[in-house]
Amino acid sequence: MLAKLKMSTTKRNLLVDLLIVSGFLLAMQRHLTGLTLHELLGVALGVGFLTHVLLHWRWVYETTRRLFSKAKAQARINYVLNLGLLTAFTLIIFSGFMISEEVLPMIGLEGVRGGSWKWLHTASADAVVWLVALHIALHWKWILNAGKKYLFGWLSQRRKTAVISPETAVVNSSEVTI
Ligand code: HEM
Repeated sequence: MLAKLKMSTTKRNLLVDLLIVSGFLLAMQRHLTGLTLHELLGVALGVGFLTHVLLHWRWVYETTRRLFSKAKAQARINYVLNLGLLTAFTLIIFSGFMISEEVLPMIGLEGVRGGSWKWLHTASADAVVWLVALHIALHWKWILNAGKKYLFGWLSQRRKTAVISPETAVVNSSEVTI
């Protein structure tokens, strides 16, 4: 029961992470999305990122508590990296709102034009690309394991279901769950 609960938590985290990464990659291609979609996607990403942090609040709490006592070097690096990601992501969303030309007018407000806010917006987006690359490098084992378990597990389950005929399934009903 507990294992089942744990697996579904991993699945949920993996799904949220995949959605954030895909959304981020799309948001980086402003010429493809157009400005309205870019801004709306950015707002959704802000909500997604907040969800991600809330889903990992226990990690944030435990690591912060242990950081100045018995934490290993890897945990400290991880923590600093995640703090950088949180800062950069918050800056993207905040500066995005400051230069907004579509979302802010929808609620009757007006953003500022260009200048340093625009620079900050692009610079923090570039910083996130580098930080995410490091984040993935640090968590590659988790990503690989979760990917193997869910993607390949799902594919082989489909293959098994496809080759088992209804009669076989009845004969082996004690072993096979369809
Ligand atoms: C994770 C979320 C976001 C990412 C990765 C992102 C990334 C970028 C990048 C890389 C550019 C520069 C594109 C270029 O020069 O061609 C840009 C431009 C822009 N972004 Fe975002 N952005 C995000 C969220 C937002 C949000 C939430 C808003 C507003 C609500 C916003 C508003 C804008 C605007 C108005 C521009 C155009 C600036 C201009 O060309 O004058 N962005 N964004």
